[in-house]
Amino acid sequence: MKNYRIAVIPGDNIGPELMKAALAVLEATQKVDGGFTLEFETCLAGAAHYTEHGTAMSDEAIAACRAAASVFKAPVGDPAVRTPEGIEAGLLGGVLRTGLDLYANVRPVKLYPGTPTPLHGYQPGGIDYVIIRENTEGLYASRGKGVGGPNAMADTMIVTRAGTERVVRFAFEAAKKRNGAPADGVRRVTCVEKSNVLRSFALFREIFLEIAGEYPGVEAETIYPDAAAQALVMNPAHYDVLVMENLLGDILSDLGGGTIGGLGMCPGGNIGDQYAYFEPVHGSAPDIAGLDIANPASQILAGAMMLDHIGEESAARRIESALWLALEEGELSIDERGRANRGTMSAAEAVIARI
Ligand code: NAI
Ligand code: MG
Repeated sequence: MKNYRIAVIPGDNIGPELMKAALAVLEATQKVDGGFTLEFETCLAGAAHYTEHGTAMSDEAIAACRAAASVFKAPVGDPAVRTPEGIEAGLLGGVLRTGLDLYANVRPVKLYPGTPTPLHGYQPGGIDYVIIRENTEGLYASRGKGVGGPNAMADTMIVTRAGTERVVRFAFEAAKKRNGAPADGVRRVTCVEKSNVLRSFALFREIFLEIAGEYPGVEAETIYPDAAAQALVMNPAHYDVLVMENLLGDILSDLGGGTIGGLGMCPGGNIGDQYAYFEPVHGSAPDIAGLDIANPASQILAGAMMLDHIGEESAARRIESALWLALEEGELSIDERGRANRGTMSAAEAVIARI
């Protein structure tokens, strides 16, 4: 029987609540599946770790993530915990995303049943696209390195040919494996870029159009990000796969979350050629920490994405179906603010009952 060692980062604020719920779902899934086992190794990291030890993550914890079959991470961070330069200290984007060269941030936006979408007329599955956010360069290449002084600051956006080629290819490969956009079934990759104003985006666009030529079976189109913000609200069923620069992907994926019942429905994968880790799209939600109302679906679905990535596809589908059923049958209910109003752990139990 296959055994996978999984590095687990419980995170800050709502992180540990979500992780407990999602690990219970993974435990139940491996038991029912019977074809593999998961061995969890806890790695402490984040804002609380910074406060106690002066670093967001120890070298040993980073080594454990490199050695593991995969990494399962809850949200980290706390707006109150900052470096002397004024940026947040407990985040792991630098050490994990850049450090492990995880260039594709995969963020599915899918409408599940029973979720409070503010959009009208969409059936479950009627919104189903994935944002591929470039994860190692773009504006966030300047993470913590901005230059200037008290009266002016500059952060530089970096777009490279190699960095763009690999993430655009990743997006087209993802489209090949999907079933096309809900509106018309067409396999489509949409490049979001601001080449009307910035030269870095003009390069991103040029490379996108070059690579699109290698994929005749997938439709390719481009859109400016301001227009995309409207389109993802007014015409989301048109979209299948979207690829974009780092900051744009950060923003538009939260917008997508707002259309499908909130960020608590949004899982993400950070994927490179060698390593990967899986986490919710959202942050550590200090406003609801400890209240047992965080929606664990994001963390549970991130667990399913992780199983899919390590090759346990049928176990991943089992989790997605169980969540779908729990929502459809009203056993897991998400209120209009995106919260699991019957409790985080009882939401997980509703999923487990259907595994
Ligand atoms: P956030 O994503 O934590 O929260 C935004 C809003 O969504 C809040 O009202 C929150 O209550 C709600 N929300 C988030 N997840 C939810 C869930 N599962 N169920 C129900 N409601 C949910 O963003 P915010 O407040 O800007 O950031 C909080 C902290 O998280 C900061 O320290 C930030 O730097 C960090 N962060 C960490 C990330 C990570 O670990 N990957 C990603 C984004 C932010
Ligand atoms: Mg974000």
